[in-house]
Amino acid sequence: MDYASLKALYDYHGQAHVFEHFETLDPQQQTALLRQAAGIDLDELDQLVEIHVRQEAVAGIDFEKLEPAPYLPHFRNGGDAEQWQHARKTGEQALRDGRVGVFTVAGGQGTRLGYDAPKGTFPVTPVSHASLFEVFAAKLRCAARLYGKDLHWFIMTSEVNHDQTVRFFEQKNYLGLRADKVHFFRQGLMPAVDFNGKLILESPGSLAMSPDGHGGSLRALYRSGSTRIMRENGIDLLSYFQVDNPLVKCVDPYFIGFHILGNSEMSGKALPKAYPGEKVGHFCTYGGKTVVVEYSDLPAELQEARQPDGNLKFSGGSIAIHVINVDFVERLGSGSNPEASLPFHKAVKKIPYCAPDRSIVRPDKPNGVKFEMFVFDALPFARHPILIETLRSEDFSPVKNAEGVDSPESCRKDQLRMAASWLKDAGVNLKTDDSGLPETVIEIDPAFAMDRETFLSEWARLSPKPAIRDGLIISG
Ligand code: UTP
Repeated sequence: MDYASLKALYDYHGQAHVFEHFETLDPQQQTALLRQAAGIDLDELDQLVEIHVRQEAVAGIDFEKLEPAPYLPHFRNGGDAEQWQHARKTGEQALRDGRVGVFTVAGGQGTRLGYDAPKGTFPVTPVSHASLFEVFAAKLRCAARLYGKDLHWFIMTSEVNHDQTVRFFEQKNYLGLRADKVHFFRQGLMPAVDFNGKLILESPGSLAMSPDGHGGSLRALYRSGSTRIMRENGIDLLSYFQVDNPLVKCVDPYFIGFHILGNSEMSGKALPKAYPGEKVGHFCTYGGKTVVVEYSDLPAELQEARQPDGNLKFSGGSIAIHVINVDFVERLGSGSNPEASLPFHKAVKKIPYCAPDRSIVRPDKPNGVKFEMFVFDALPFARHPILIETLRSEDFSPVKNAEGVDSPESCRKDQLRMAASWLKDAGVNLKTDDSGLPETVIEIDPAFAMDRETFLSEWARLSPKPAIRDGLIISG
């Protein structure tokens, strides 16, 4: 679109200020701004502003009708061991058949951690200081060995971290994976607005834009052609996880098996909350659908409500680990059915902006709104969503904050605890404190064992066995 038509369109939508410095820009900057402006869906933006900025409150949930969603208990927590074994075998067959692709969302800005590079490159392991991406790649190498198939790995980045992410993989020779099996694509961007619904200029020639949330992954998978690559390679299931959690079972045959046996389109792992106010989403049922209600949207009395047996009523926490059918991604991601599209949520943020005198102002309090989609909002559209319980110690220890809860230090300790617990399970005598934390700093190479079951069988085969000492990396 040329300048005149775009300006007229922006004028019509009350956003003509976007071009207030246009005449002062050089031709390159003008082209860049026009391209950016042309990429924004102003009708969609009008709706979002109406709902999230102008209206006092978004239509809420009728909490009388909200119930906790049931989930299958883990076999180490009272679940049916035979049923879990059957699921495992089913999942393993799907892996051997090459039906499973791996998908990591890594487009976030990681502001809480405050690390000046893509979060996936952050060093996390206690001895070798391997990065998050390296941990996942090692697990994929382990899975390839176990199931005789190299897995395709899809990594969603954003405009902000794409080039750095790809460079990291190139410099490290694709972390021991085949380059043609690793696929990067960028997620979409959404413009930010101020509290009057006006688009924000972050400089005289560019708009403030931010990634459209992990829920943007569904349309980005579709638009980037990733789902086509999946189809061409016989992949009909995706193992979805976030970039910040090195404990995650990137490939979990039990989970994949339950998903297949349940004829589910999207499944989730539920983690019993550690305490009533834990900041995780809650798996619930509402109007016959499975939904996730964010901790900030669930009143404190419901967060704390107990069942007659004393257990928390709303206990199933959502930790963003899913198995998703590729055709479900296509259905939602293509936007072919307007009834099945993910809603946007608003996040009130401090957004740097360009003042009328062209200086850049970094506000010290929130001045605007960003829009994001959440992947768990796809659950209500899924056929037969299955939820299974997972164990925190084996699947979840994210690196979110620089210090304290969910920090590099808490995650390092959780990795040590997990390694110690596997070694003890294998009969190794190891001193630990009451929380299971070993005195010795050790690491189990995820390429050697991606999960407890694999560790037990690999360790049994290992001869001679290494002496446990500080700095040991068990790698076979
Ligand atoms: P978080 O909600 O922790 O957000 O993302 P974040 O941006 O990484 O971190 P903060 O809030 O700025 O500190 C959870 C997961 O979703 C991905 C992140 O990369 C992470 O794996 N994500 C988040 C995206 O891929 N895109 C987004 O737009 C947002």
